[in-house]
Order: sequence, then C-alpha cells, then structure tokens
Amino acid sequence: MGAVLDYTIAKLSPHTGAEVRGIDLREPLATAERDRLNRAFVDHSVLVFRDQKPSAPQLLAAMQQFGDVLQQHNTKFALPECPQIHYISNQDKYPDGSRYIAGAGYHTDHSNAVEPPKATILCAVSLPDSGGDTQYVNMHEAYDSLSAAMQTRMTDAKAIHVYQSRYSERKLIALPNTAKVPDSVAHPLVRTHPESGRKALYLNPIRTEGIVGMDDAEGLPLLDELLAHAVQEKHQYRHRWEPGDVVMWDNRCLLHKANGDYDMNQVRYLYRVMLQGDTPV
Ligand SMILES: [Fe+2]
Repeated sequence: MGAVLDYTIAKLSPHTGAEVRGIDLREPLATAERDRLNRAFVDHSVLVFRDQKPSAPQLLAAMQQFGDVLQQHNTKFALPECPQIHYISNQDKYPDGSRYIAGAGYHTDHSNAVEPPKATILCAVSLPDSGGDTQYVNMHEAYDSLSAAMQTRMTDAKAIHVYQSRYSERKLIALPNTAKVPDSVAHPLVRTHPESGRKALYLNPIRTEGIVGMDDAEGLPLLDELLAHAVQEKHQYRHRWEPGDVVMWDNRCLLHKANGDYDMNQVRYLYRVMLQGDTPV
C-alpha cells in the first residue's frame, strides 16, 4: 500500500486524454489510487503523467501495477539492462542508412498478435525542443459517427493482420531471426472494449492486409474508406510532449502516430512498455 496523495486528473480534450498531476510513479500506488487511475484510463483512453523521472526499472514497476508486461516483438530495441522495456530513438537507421522514425503513420500496436497489448506507455527521456507530437485517433468516436448502414455492415466483419502488410506505406525494421510473431491473425473490425463495453473500430493500415471473405477489389477500398473516416480531425487528440511526460494509451480504442517533423540533430529518445491485452471480440 502506498500513501494516499493529493493529485488531479484533468481532461485534455473533449473525448481523449487526461493529465495527471501530483503523482510520483517511483512510489507504489495505493489500491484506491490505482483503481481510480485505471478508471480514468478507460474513460479518457490516454493518461499523461506529468513531471516524472523514473529509471527504467522504476517505470517497469510502476506500469506492472496496471497489468502484465508484454514481450515486444522486435527485441533489437530492448534495453540491455531492462529488456522488458524497449526504446524509441530518432537515431536509428534502416540498413541503407536512411533514418527510421518509429511509429510514423497511423497504427495500433502489435495488432498482429492474437492478444494485442491493451496499453502502450512511453516515457520521455530526451525530447527535441519542439515537434515530435504523438497524434491519437479515438476509435470509439470513429465508430459512433459511422452511418447506421456502415455499422450494420461491419457487425461481423474481420480484418487480417500480419507483422507487416504488403500494402503498408511504412516499412518496419526487420525482425531478428529469433523473433516469434504470428503469421496472420483475424480480428473483428468492430471490437467491444472489455472494460467499458463501448464499441470501437479496429483498423491498422501498417498491418492489415484485407477483410476475411472479401477480395482485394472490395476489401481494400472499404478499409481505406473506414480509415479516412476514422482519422478526421474531430476524432483526434494531438499530444505535445513536455519533459517528464509518461504517456499511457489504450490500444483497444485508439490509433496513434509519431511525427518526424523536428530537427533530427536533436535526440528524441523514449522508453516504451506494453501491457498485455486480450483477444479482441
Ligand atoms: Fe506505435
């Protein structure tokens, strides 16, 4: 049991994001605090813990209070001293020497897993002076604003997710030979949030290759149409990073993307943790 603290949770936009101030994640949370924060996480989909300074093991311990840690797919990015945490850095390059911006292009993390992560957490270690925002799309809002006819059409539809879709505009850095990822998995295009019961569109243009039972001529334009609908600005929350931010988001009901719109001579480096989720239904 940790101490009961005087902390605040404040909305960051009408539908997505809340800022938590007054908590030090290096200290264990009391059960009531953890429950309140978990409820806020489900309600707001993105929690921003301000003014944090955890070491990698402290971040890991803090996040284990919210769920089991998931082994991330590309172990090339694991921290040697704390391998359940990976890093994201703008100093990484493709084999041809061009710069790799992890997370560019809307996606939801590891959706090619049978049980994709419920949450991803990023902890800012080094940020550029400006830029590098993370953009989120609220897929509950995207589902709710679909036409009734489209909602009905999507009721039982499933999409096929693979590690890297041949239709993806962004190429991932190759997996090490030892990596184990499923060949292909089908997930519903509309999933029900296991904690809130709300429905959400579940798309991933990086990993989705088609719709079960539809040929590409039918399925691909439909995926494009759903994505274009989802990413409308009215469904977005754009996070501007501040030093000390730890951001935890809900992959079950969000798309996200990174922006490579800053001075690449400045280092952008973050720790990343993922928490185990369940099979989308
Ligand atoms: Fe991501």
